[in-house]
Amino acid sequence: MNISIFGLGYVGCVSVGCLAKNGHHVIGVDVSQTKVDQINAGKATIIEKDIDHIIADQRAKGNIEATTDSKEAILKTDISIIAVGTPSSDKGHLNLSYIFKVAEIAGLGIKEKKDFHVIAIRSTIMPGTCDKFASIVEEVSGKKRNVDFAIVDNPEFLREGTAVDDYYNPPLTLIGSDNADAAEKVASLYRQLPGEVIVTDLKIAEIMKYVNNTFHALKISFGNEVGNICAEMGIDSHKVMEIFCKDKQLNISPYYFKPGFAFGGSCLPKDLKGLQTLAHDLYVNVPVIESINKSNELQINRAVELIQHTEKKRIGFLGLSFKAGTDDLRNSPAVTVVETLLGKGYEVKIYDKNIYLSNLTGTNKAYIDHHIPHLSKLMVSDINELGKDVDVIVINNKEKEYLEVLEKTPDTTVIVDMVRLPEALRAKKNYKGINW
Ligand SMILES: NC(=O)c1ccc[n+]([C@@H]2O[C@H](COP(=O)([O-])OP(=O)(O)OC[C@H]3O[C@@H](n4cnc5c(N)ncnc54)[C@H](O)[C@@H]3O)[C@@H](O)[C@H]2O)c1
Repeated sequence: MNISIFGLGYVGCVSVGCLAKNGHHVIGVDVSQTKVDQINAGKATIIEKDIDHIIADQRAKGNIEATTDSKEAILKTDISIIAVGTPSSDKGHLNLSYIFKVAEIAGLGIKEKKDFHVIAIRSTIMPGTCDKFASIVEEVSGKKRNVDFAIVDNPEFLREGTAVDDYYNPPLTLIGSDNADAAEKVASLYRQLPGEVIVTDLKIAEIMKYVNNTFHALKISFGNEVGNICAEMGIDSHKVMEIFCKDKQLNISPYYFKPGFAFGGSCLPKDLKGLQTLAHDLYVNVPVIESINKSNELQINRAVELIQHTEKKRIGFLGLSFKAGTDDLRNSPAVTVVETLLGKGYEVKIYDKNIYLSNLTGTNKAYIDHHIPHLSKLMVSDINELGKDVDVIVINNKEKEYLEVLEKTPDTTVIVDMVRLPEALRAKKNYKGINW
């Protein structure tokens, strides 16, 4: 395929070389005459393992050229890949001015182009950028999105230092698109590469890189804080994290990575507090670990606010324990929500198939007696009773029979979902998910 690549920095230079090596004809475009001259002289614009040989070899074979003439590059190619910089502004926002400048330039090329043109944005961009890019192209070119051209988001996952190796071994290839043909055309560029090709919504692809990199930063800071605590106690932090990483069921796994309600129960809050206090006693600052509980409290507030925004006063709860299949009420975030609502004058009814008040004992009973002393007056023993005389049902545990009740609720009842109900229930009128 004939490809133009805008931006001959780290991402652009690697893409020029690797796509040419994979059999494409590539035109590199940059505003820097120096970088254009470097590529035309068969030299890489960056210092990176293997890329200098690849550029030299592919240039010698005639598979690569470079220019400052953007319009010409658009006219001569089927796809344009955008790899210009997206640095931070002084206030921490993303500076997208280079991206939008390219949109104007691309518009000028597309104005004169007869064939359909695909633009794949490889730079890291905020959700909504592809739409704005497309409207600039439409305005400048007078052409129509998805009729004359398409915009696809195709984030790059390479790391400097191992960029060529990362290019050929991506964890996955991500394509955000509202145009199936354009997505297919971009996917075909990476046919030789391993890893799953995921085609998804534009905004999902656009936010992905931020989610990935923020998580990577979180991993580093978490590892460092654990290391700092261990070091103060003479514990080998590397051995600790090595063992930590061996647990592929709960630690390094998709488990717990589902957006939803706050955590609770008798272990997570207690042990989090324990590690925090240990760090405190050792005079070790652990701001990341300390922020976890704050974040959890905010998630409980979010649930209360979601219920308040329904502007209804009679609230039913399906499930009160911190997760399905248990009667453990200790530190259940739903208990805090109920307690808060009662304090604000709401009427509350609760059904939980696992809770028999007469069977509650020990710290579990003490906890609930302290937080909701008159819980027995709020509980209903028949699940079908719950739907009567309430305007809102909050679903807090995903039990099969709870879902059956929700299927039957009238559309006038608001469903507030903490557990991500199945799609059919999410489609109900007056449905609200906590964070989806
Ligand atoms: N560097 C990385 O490791 C890496 C990895 C993944 C994603 N990214 C993302 O990819 C994007 C590019 O990063 P980079 O490190 O390659 O940037 P870079 O600063 O090295 O290169 C950007 C290039 O774009 C050129 N440019 C600017 N305006 C232009 C225009 N109108 N037309 C043509 N060229 C223009 C600049 O002259 C420069 O050569 C960024 O969004 C970055 O966040 C970077």
